[in-house]
Amino acid sequence: MKKSTNKKQADLDSNKEDSQHQFLTTNQGLKINDNQNSLKAGERGPSLLEDFILREKITHFDHERIPERVVHARGEAAHGYFQVYESMAPYTKAKFLQDPAQKTPVFVRFSTVAGSRGSSDLARDVRGFAVKFYTEEGNYDLVGNNVPVFFIQDAIKFPDLIHAVKPEPHNEIPQAASAHDTFWDFISLLPESMHMIMWVMSDRALPRSLRMIEGFGVHTFKFINEQGKAFFVKFHWKPLLGVHSVSWDEAQKISGKDPDFHRRDLWEAIESGNFPEWEFGVQLVPEEDEHKFEFDLLDPTKLIPEELVPVMKIGKMTLDRNPDNFFAETEQVAFHPGHLVPGIDFTNDPLLQGRLFSYTDTQLTRLGSPNFHEIPINRPIAPVHNNQRDGHMRQTINHSKTSYEPNTLSGGCPFQAKMSEGGFTSHNERIEAHKIRGRSQSFFDHFSQATLFFNSQSDYEKNHIVDALSFELGNVKAEYIRKRMLKMLWYIDKGLAAKVAYNLGISIPSALETPLNQSYPADADVASYQPVIV
Ligand code: HEM
Repeated sequence: MKKSTNKKQADLDSNKEDSQHQFLTTNQGLKINDNQNSLKAGERGPSLLEDFILREKITHFDHERIPERVVHARGEAAHGYFQVYESMAPYTKAKFLQDPAQKTPVFVRFSTVAGSRGSSDLARDVRGFAVKFYTEEGNYDLVGNNVPVFFIQDAIKFPDLIHAVKPEPHNEIPQAASAHDTFWDFISLLPESMHMIMWVMSDRALPRSLRMIEGFGVHTFKFINEQGKAFFVKFHWKPLLGVHSVSWDEAQKISGKDPDFHRRDLWEAIESGNFPEWEFGVQLVPEEDEHKFEFDLLDPTKLIPEELVPVMKIGKMTLDRNPDNFFAETEQVAFHPGHLVPGIDFTNDPLLQGRLFSYTDTQLTRLGSPNFHEIPINRPIAPVHNNQRDGHMRQTINHSKTSYEPNTLSGGCPFQAKMSEGGFTSHNERIEAHKIRGRSQSFFDHFSQATLFFNSQSDYEKNHIVDALSFELGNVKAEYIRKRMLKMLWYIDKGLAAKVAYNLGISIPSALETPLNQSYPADADVASYQPVIV
């Protein structure tokens, strides 16, 4: 067993089991004498129901699988630590961002979004980049991706997006690629997805190694300092190895030869002492500057151009240890964008707000019990004391007589922490509004940043985008979907649309004349189409 290197590691070590040179036992600790043969009525007779050893072994095996994640099912993870370069006290009171001498343990899970647990690592897809910081103030999860924006602006569209992305329901094809009708049908009806589509069709969606991807928090979050002043913040991870990709041709060959290419690369790098590192960066915008941009900071389909707000590198993360057990750690880890510490808060980004509901909800099904926070990989190093009780698989043995608060009976019940004692308080943002189901006008420019991204690419990178779109749309059976998509591309870059149209054998005028859809949306003009107008 490896030696503990930090508090979290010591905690995990306390749950480890080492079977080497031990007697084989049942789950009740009974030593097993014969693990090769079941109990039978005679040498050639039927097996006996009383064979509790056979029954226990098979029953446990029968229940070994848990549901895979509804998205991001394919993943790999590693342990490590984070250190801040200098105190971030002017911007946030988060304790793990104060002391450069302090090493905060982390567990990081990388993933693809669409494929199932056994899908190929080299699929054209977004990569998840989820970091759990085990801080002294509780777990802080930064659940990000390797692309700085997202497909949709409002969480209510997420189930639609994923239903369109995942294999088609009648035949479960294709496994892990976006090249199919349902995906492009949906996307071509969703102008807000165009910025993300540019990233996904670019080389960014085909990483050379997980050690060479950037990470982004995507949403705008808030830092709050000791004085209560708020800063909008965008989070970045910048790999010290730089950002590198493979070509589509390479990706396809690697997928065939080694579907575990990224998993193996990460594992072997860490085993051989080549520890991957990322610098942690922030873009900070004082609260009073919220409306100084041409886009809305709450819109997750927009990034803050680094020319406008440079990324300040504030610390470094090193991944230096592989998990001991894939299921116990990588599979059972439960990230949640709502796991916060004092000094960090949400914004009203409507995508983020929906995510805050989704993660615990899905984990209740995936991990099967309201006590999944007690699973070793999810357990904070900060002490946990509350009046939550019981439920499936409860491990904690609460020994006080009472489980409510306020309370004068037991004398031992946990009490609330004042702010000065580290008690979490939400940022006291002033909100004055009518309740409304809709979207702000400030979310309606869907093409400027898509164009910005396309223009930021070198010529060969632009050609890769053309090739990717030609391949993807070439696999779409419905011609009206291909045409509708060409119309979208026309609004991003006319040359891009023309090249893809040429590859598809479609004339641009015929594409531009194509009504978007017979029914939804009825409007023929993509650029002015908005799903809901407030
Ligand atoms: C995983 C929902 C948007 C990053 C998941 C899971 C769900 C989910 C249900 C599976 C969690 C589990 O089983 O433990 C949603 C919803 C979204 C959304 C409803 C929008 C409304 C995003 C965005 C990002 C993101 C914008 C990136 C910023 C991730 C990552 C994982 C994940 C990295 C994998 C976590 C892991 O490695 O275990 N999401 N998601 N999601 N999501 Fe989201």
